[in-house]
Amino acid sequence: MSQNDLAPLQRQLESERTARKEAERLFEEKISELTLANQQLQRHVDCLPCIVVALDSDARISMINQAGCALLGQPASALLGQAWFERCLPQPNGESVLLPLFRQLLAGDTGAKGKLAEYAISDGSGHARLMIWHIGLLTDATGKIVGTLSSGEDISEQRQAEAAIAESRNLLLKIIDTVPARVFWKDSELRFLGCNAAFASDAGMHSSAEMIGKDDYQMVWAEQADFYRADDRAVMESGAPRLFFEEQQATAGGETVWLRTSKVPLINDDQQTFGVLGIYEDITEYRRIEADNRVHVAELTALNTMLIEAQNQMLRSVKMASVGQLAAGVAREIDNPFAFISSHLMALKGHVQDLLNVVDAYQKAEPALAAQGELLIAIKQAKSAANLDFLQHDILNLISESLDGVQRARTIVDCLKDFSQVDTVEWLPANLEKGLESTLNIVWNEIKYKAKIKKDYAGIPEIECLEPQLKQVFLNLLINAVQAIDERGTITLRTGFDEQAVWLEVADSGKGIEPEHLDKVFDPFFTTKPAGKGTGLGLSLAKNIVQRHRGQLEARSKPGKGSVFRVTLPRNREPAPERS
Ligand SMILES: Nc1ncnc2c1ncn2[C@@H]1O[C@H](COP(=O)(O)OP(=O)(O)OP(=O)(O)O)[C@@H](O)[C@H]1O
Ligand SMILES: [Mg+2]
Repeated sequence: MSQNDLAPLQRQLESERTARKEAERLFEEKISELTLANQQLQRHVDCLPCIVVALDSDARISMINQAGCALLGQPASALLGQAWFERCLPQPNGESVLLPLFRQLLAGDTGAKGKLAEYAISDGSGHARLMIWHIGLLTDATGKIVGTLSSGEDISEQRQAEAAIAESRNLLLKIIDTVPARVFWKDSELRFLGCNAAFASDAGMHSSAEMIGKDDYQMVWAEQADFYRADDRAVMESGAPRLFFEEQQATAGGETVWLRTSKVPLINDDQQTFGVLGIYEDITEYRRIEADNRVHVAELTALNTMLIEAQNQMLRSVKMASVGQLAAGVAREIDNPFAFISSHLMALKGHVQDLLNVVDAYQKAEPALAAQGELLIAIKQAKSAANLDFLQHDILNLISESLDGVQRARTIVDCLKDFSQVDTVEWLPANLEKGLESTLNIVWNEIKYKAKIKKDYAGIPEIECLEPQLKQVFLNLLINAVQAIDERGTITLRTGFDEQAVWLEVADSGKGIEPEHLDKVFDPFFTTKPAGKGTGLGLSLAKNIVQRHRGQLEARSKPGKGSVFRVTLPRNREPAPERS
């Protein structure tokens, strides 16, 4: 081949060499551009705080940013090319669950993307870190999926915090559910923000969650809802709790229940009211027991009153029996002597009269004894020594006064006999003015040196009564009256009547009763008298007797001026039932 023949070939070769060099230069340029772009990209992704990792079609790491290296605790050089799912994730989950999902994703199953949206990787110390993943698919020029580019955000701490919040919330709800009461809380629009299980169940809900967002109109009838809401609003507006008020509520079943409720405004850190908290308990049973107890207390009180009355009755019987026995004994003892003293005095009066008649006859015979001078002198001397004129006049006076005295004593004995019949239960018509008089006779001895007696009797009609017992009342009143008088005073006995009743008053000008004692004087054992002087039973027994007659015993008094005790008795007998 000639030189000329080679020249075109050499030119072609030269031009091809030049073209190749150009292509190589361009390629180099491209490579360096790409390397630059790659480095820039790497720098960019390194700036991101989240993990960025690219995986090739074999799920090997083809790129990872610094945040990823830091979390995994290895340099990029050690990580590039590593099998992501086997080396960087907790096992066996990484290899057996997540790697197959990755393969499905690469095969075009986009549903797998969602399943790979949250999984954990192992950090440098081998702890699992839960990550949220955003996954992008890498494709080649033909659109074939050749790998993934994912960014991952570490949500372990957020999850832990959420879990802690959820745990304390659950604990709080548990506590609220455990409270032995119904609890609810509402927002400022009075919609339920929450409630405990008991409240939800009362409201016919399956769970507390069902209540959230509802309002009273969805729970109860409009009227009741209006009522609750007005109440809630008042608490929110006042800003102050409303505690332990009791309210009645009709249940859906038509029952009426009693609730004890408290409502408290809910106030945030800025001191703004944002709702209301209510708590209530069903106290229907408690109310029922309370009502039962009230009945029992009333029954016990009645029983107690009966017992006190029975006890008083007994004390009265004992006191009256002993007074009665004494009176009866004394009366019996002195009745006989009085009887013979009285009859002897009568006989003596006759005999003395006879003797005086004889003396009279002798006196008339005196002139005939003129001859018997000595005898006459002796008679005259005896007459003047005996003061015969005075004697004649005085002897009969003495005997008459003695007879009067005996008569008076017999009257008292009769009264005592009367008085001793306190056990009688026979209701008989009696003139109580006479009864009062006869009682006065008995205590006259005690009264006469201290008090003047004034009487203002209206002539009351007879009433059917237990007279001996009423005399016991008068006796107590008279004795109290005289005991209230220190030096000298007056006791006034008054009586009166109308269509329905008769009354008898014993008034004294004694020391009176202090106002704070006035309603105590009828209490058993209340006394202001020194120990041993008063038992404090007199008025309580008197009141019992008067009440037995369906009457009243009342006292009024002015301290320092005196007291008035009035016995009022119905004219028509309506005795209280006898108690055995
Ligand atoms: N007329 C009165 N004036 C002033 N105080 C009286 C009068 N009557 C009763 N009281 C007061 O009422 C109290 C109770 O009277 P009550 O007759 O029940 O008992 P008492 O007289 O003290 O004792 P008892 O009657 O057993 O001897 C008396 O202690 C006295 O303080
Ligand atoms: Mg008394």
